[in-house]
Amino acid sequence: MIEIRPALPDDLDWLCKLEEESFSLPWTREQLEGQMSGENKLLLVAQLDGRPAGYMGLYWVLDEGYVTNVCTSAEYRRRGVASALINSVTERARELDLSFITLEVRASNAAAHSVYAKMGFNDVGVRPGYYEKPAEDAVIMTLYLKEVER
Ligand SMILES: CC(C)(COP(=O)(O)OP(=O)(O)OC[C@H]1O[C@@H](n2cnc3c(N)ncnc32)[C@H](O)[C@@H]1OP(=O)(O)O)[C@@H](O)C(=O)NCCC(=O)NCCS
Repeated sequence: MIEIRPALPDDLDWLCKLEEESFSLPWTREQLEGQMSGENKLLLVAQLDGRPAGYMGLYWVLDEGYVTNVCTSAEYRRRGVASALINSVTERARELDLSFITLEVRASNAAAHSVYAKMGFNDVGVRPGYYEKPAEDAVIMTLYLKEVER
């Protein structure tokens, strides 16, 4: 069973470890801690059968939501953890009356692209050379939360 809850200071050790295992430029402890508090941000943790399995961050400015990171521990992948986090963040974004949630994903990251597309995000553009280590383009993906008047 997957449960979603806010990240707590006690999560910092495993969050740092997972960042280091998963990304070539991991977030620092200070960055993760900073994402946990503040009026315009949240960091959610997914627990699978009682164990921390993944996390997702969001910050917002006016009615725009920006995903900071999404990650599932390697041993818990393909069990719906990222999907549950995205659903929970989307629910919160609707409560906050945001117009959209957007993110960047490495052009080669087929797994992440696939989960975001499955959750309703669309490709809306490319940021050339956005990433380092290795240098790579970012695909911008956006989930629109409101009907656009035409
Ligand atoms: C991308 C990532 C977050 C997905 O997490 P997850 O918990 O495994 O995702 P889910 O189980 O919710 O997957 C939902 C769907 O996404 C797609 N998907 C997920 N991983 C996939 C993969 N490796 N290959 C192809 N499709 C994939 C599938 O359609 C999957 O549904 P299915 O398992 O029923 O086929 C995870 O692989 C990860 O943490 N990767 C390393 C960090 C990273 O790249 N983060 C994103 C940065 S932008």
